[in-house]
Amino acid sequence: MKENMTKPAGQILVIFGASGDLTKRKLLPSLFELFDREALPEHFVILGVARTPYSDEEFRLQQRENLFLFLKGKRPEEQRVDAFLKKVYYLGFNSDEAGEYHYLAEKLQALRSAHDVPDQVIFYLATPPQKYGLIAEALGKSKLNKPQQKQEGWRRIIVEKPFGSSLETAQALNRKLCSIFDEEDIYRIDHFLGKETVQNILVLRFANQIFESLWNRNYIDSVEIYAAEKLGVENRGKYYEGAGALRDMIQNHLMQLMGFVAMEAPSSFEANLMRDEVAKVFRALHPLSLNDVIRGQYVAGSVGNEWLPGYREEKGVAPDSTTETYIAMRFFIDNWRWGGVPFYFYTGKRLRESRSEIIIHFKNVPHRLFNGICPHASCNELILKVDAPESISLKFGLKIPGSFFEVKQVSMNFAYDSLCNTYIANAYERLLLDAMQGDSTLYTRTDALELSWRFIDPILKEWAKEPSKGLVFYPAGSDGPEERKWLLHYSL
Ligand code: BG6
Repeated sequence: MKENMTKPAGQILVIFGASGDLTKRKLLPSLFELFDREALPEHFVILGVARTPYSDEEFRLQQRENLFLFLKGKRPEEQRVDAFLKKVYYLGFNSDEAGEYHYLAEKLQALRSAHDVPDQVIFYLATPPQKYGLIAEALGKSKLNKPQQKQEGWRRIIVEKPFGSSLETAQALNRKLCSIFDEEDIYRIDHFLGKETVQNILVLRFANQIFESLWNRNYIDSVEIYAAEKLGVENRGKYYEGAGALRDMIQNHLMQLMGFVAMEAPSSFEANLMRDEVAKVFRALHPLSLNDVIRGQYVAGSVGNEWLPGYREEKGVAPDSTTETYIAMRFFIDNWRWGGVPFYFYTGKRLRESRSEIIIHFKNVPHRLFNGICPHASCNELILKVDAPESISLKFGLKIPGSFFEVKQVSMNFAYDSLCNTYIANAYERLLLDAMQGDSTLYTRTDALELSWRFIDPILKEWAKEPSKGLVFYPAGSDGPEERKWLLHYSL
């Protein structure tokens, strides 16, 4: 093995939704990367499952093409791809019908014998979310949720987001899954937690005295978390119509980032201790009011010479849609570390630039001795760039050379790509490997998931009463609606 990690035990990974986008863009490329780095177990099989009837060979051929298309920045060796694809199988059946799961049971049995795999199976639900409950139920009815002999194997289930569409639906789905699988075998995936830079928040905070001792309301003025995207909704209009930015990005990804920024240090890195600390932060959130959240939708606009359609003109979107494609929000965490420090989330589609970052603004010095040109409240900022090019920058004030004491904000930068020879795994590689090893540290636990829904649910309910009230618009290619600036100016 090329890296310093233990390989997971032999197992079968069943992917429901194998003909979908997630499988071809993320899951199979990530599994190939793991295979290429010799991180997969020897006795390992991937079984793709979907309704369309393909043979194993037809499915492999499609996925072969996809691998060459979606393995970013790399042309894989043909023989390695072929060796990988020998581990890939396919089964076409109707996964809505519990009566058809005997096909799955038979195929699993045949694959286990052919590849000498122990009775260890992960089910990955990469289907439309309406199917999660149905599939779990059918797995339960056909007794595929448990190993054949109690002591000799295991079953795990990975569930993609969105996990529910409101507090009630998330709770109902949790109840259903927990009646079929044990909580410790349910892996609710949030791919942001698999990002190397996101995990590094914890190392930066808890392995360095200089940051953690300033990491509180005495020294921090505010925290901003951005996940801005240049892309529009692409071909996901239908899904997005039922989701919107609050459900699609805030309830999961941004909340998890905030959890890592705001949590206390766990006493060890054991999965439940870590997740206890995130849940404690979510429990301390001050309830939101409508004034704390600005929601926007993009209208047509031009970027350079390119004319971009508005959200309502996108495929699968209603011409009078009130779904938000942008959110700016402000909130507080009522605890001793963070009381009174505003946190801001900014996320949206079709913005001027893609930008995923966390900015910690430190308080200004109590006495301004020098003339400064520092923006915002202070010269000191710590910027963690979560997406490529990943970096960490610390900003501080220095004297401009000359006879006056004039201050300029300068920056000390660390770029991840300067860590040469270090392979940075993508989020799905990391998370898939963790689930295969039974490590749920970077997966969301029931309580945190329900608490994050509880936080945003009152806002969703208010919007549902008057869908167009308060919806503001911004041109595609802009920085978002001007109204986002209101949040900086009013107080509670
Ligand atoms: C997904 C959202 O979960 O995350 C998408 O559904 C969004 O709308 C994507 O584009 C962003 O992820 P990343 O890793 O590309 O920043």
